Amino acid sequence: MARPVPSSAGYGAKSSAAKEVQVREVDVERVEVINELYIQPPHRLSKPHQYFPFDIFSGRLHKQLLDRGETLGLTPHLVEELQYVRDHCMTPPFPWGQIIYRSFVLGNIIQQDIPGHFAELGIGQGGTSIFFARLAKMYGRKFLAVDSFEGLPEPDMTKDNHYFVQGDYRPKNEVDQLQCFMDYMKDKDIEDTLTVKKCFFKDLDIPDEFDKFAFVHLDSDLYDSVYDSLEKVWDRVADGGCVAVDDFFHHAQGPARAVADFFRTRGNPNGEPPLLYVVPTYAIVIVKGRSAFIERPPNGSSSSSSAQRRSGSMHGPRALDGNYYSFKMVRSCQPFIRAVEESVRSATAASQAPNLDEVQQQAINRARINAEAFLSFLKYPDNAARSGSDILRYLWPLEDQWDISQGTLNGMAGVARNTIEIGI
Ligand SMILES: C[S@@+](CC[C@H](N)C(=O)[O-])C[C@H]1O[C@@H](n2cnc3c(N)ncnc32)[C@H](O)[C@@H]1O
Repeated sequence: MARPVPSSAGYGAKSSAAKEVQVREVDVERVEVINELYIQPPHRLSKPHQYFPFDIFSGRLHKQLLDRGETLGLTPHLVEELQYVRDHCMTPPFPWGQIIYRSFVLGNIIQQDIPGHFAELGIGQGGTSIFFARLAKMYGRKFLAVDSFEGLPEPDMTKDNHYFVQGDYRPKNEVDQLQCFMDYMKDKDIEDTLTVKKCFFKDLDIPDEFDKFAFVHLDSDLYDSVYDSLEKVWDRVADGGCVAVDDFFHHAQGPARAVADFFRTRGNPNGEPPLLYVVPTYAIVIVKGRSAFIERPPNGSSSSSSAQRRSGSMHGPRALDGNYYSFKMVRSCQPFIRAVEESVRSATAASQAPNLDEVQQQAINRARINAEAFLSFLKYPDNAARSGSDILRYLWPLEDQWDISQGTLNGMAGVARNTIEIGI
């Protein structure tokens, strides 16, 4: 049965005062049983690894990606350095984190003469530490590598969403992980550059020679681990140096909460929120001395009182999650953009293949549409209008990666799962 809507109802009431609108009345007594038996709709590739985003971020395809590294624009030297450590790095950050951080280090730290050494807190099997220790050595810097070598400490369930468990990333079969790392680094020509500390971060005593840091990689998954690391290193980071925090967008969310809590009180002297440079896929970089408030240089004619009043504006609107993000680092990585272009081409070709059934067609289209959306986001001029939704535009095309990376909990009730072990 239909009934008239009173003219005062709704936002449009004023302009359509006399008009009667017919609406269907909902019978609230006829309730439907909700039955969630459709666990996963079929329009996803069951083995998505050859398409976006896994052709760019998957551990399985590292080899192919590096084999064509030079056609993507990576130098032969960089490809060789990445090949060197490939089997001892986790994905992500490998390989795009390494590539993008390295270019920040060369362009913004080495070329700008920012003083300080390099460090990684949370080294896993140590490939990333070796990669950056070799870079440190080339420019006369030292490298500090810190890990429990026993895996993660206990998560704090009030700060870390349910995902990681104590002991994740410990080595298989009680192998001595520190010894494995020391053996692995032996022929890497960094013995005079690398200092290794085995401890939990809260107990870390940073050796005196590391009085300043220019580049620190924090990769430790949990709220307390990241917060403790920031407490230890941030005061030693030189102005213009940076801290990279991996796992920031991981659905466990501990690192993002640790960054928010730490920088709320300790980050910038003027209490300004940090500018977070996004690095695919999970990471952000914070450059010391650079906040989301972009100060206008004082003009010569200002009086002393107006000179004290700082003028400027924010880098862009606050993002949907309350942070301020920059996509400059990822948008200026040309090899990465070329890899995404290739991904679009291969998904497009696959979607045009004959004899695809409807589900396959939809699944490949989904990967193609995501690749195209990601590419157009990357190619959007970084100095054009910014939006609080930009972070959504970055995250959304990566949906398959976020979803699949929850795999260790899929099908498991509660915390009853095996720990993630490092295969040494
Ligand atoms: C994901 S793995 C690191 C991967 C590595 N950075 C890479 O690029 O391949 C995380 C590491 O952090 C270490 N870790 C996490 N929290 C820690 C803490 N509070 N103290 C010491 N080590 C910690 C774990 O032992 C583990 O080796």
